Amino acid sequence: MTNTHHRSRLLACLILVSTFAWSLSASANEDLIKYRQAIYGGIGKHTGAIASILKGDVPHTDDLPALARGLSELAALTPDLFAENTQEGKTDALPEIWENFDEFQGLIDDFIDDTALLVEASASGNRQDFARAFQRVGRGCKGCHDRFKAD
Ligand code: HEC
Repeated sequence: MTNTHHRSRLLACLILVSTFAWSLSASANEDLIKYRQAIYGGIGKHTGAIASILKGDVPHTDDLPALARGLSELAALTPDLFAENTQEGKTDALPEIWENFDEFQGLIDDFIDDTALLVEASASGNRQDFARAFQRVGRGCKGCHDRFKAD
């Protein structure tokens, strides 16, 4: 076998390997992004359920503590959802997140604290306190989305 043959086979092999590695990492990103969106989707659903109760659309007031706990547990999962390799793909997460990561993490910390206060308020059974704590949580959603999420 000539040297040229050898080299072109080696090159073909390298291209194949790197294409494979690239497609692997691309699909891993997509799965991580979908997972992130599933968690935020759950956050949105919990918030929607709480809002239906507070508006009086449904009478399930006794569910508020469980919904608040669920929301708070999901909030606690969000710090790990923004790995470097999840910046690109079908995502509404803006690049500003990774350019201002400390600021972004600060908003996540506030969100976790606010949902913990919501759990406390739900345990107290005071509807006014709960509604106020829920408003605070809602401001956190909006504050972060306005700055870090595409609409
Ligand atoms: C610290 C920032 C931050 C906070 C706080 C936050 N979000 Fe988000 N949210 C995001 C980002 C970033 C995305 C985009 C995720 C993606 O597309 O990869 C998102 C996406 C979503 C989505 C869309 C999920 C999907 O199916 O694509 C919903 C719904 C949502 N958030 C609801 C909420 C609600 C409700 C709250 C408050 C209770 C909240 N979020 C708090 C940053 C935040």
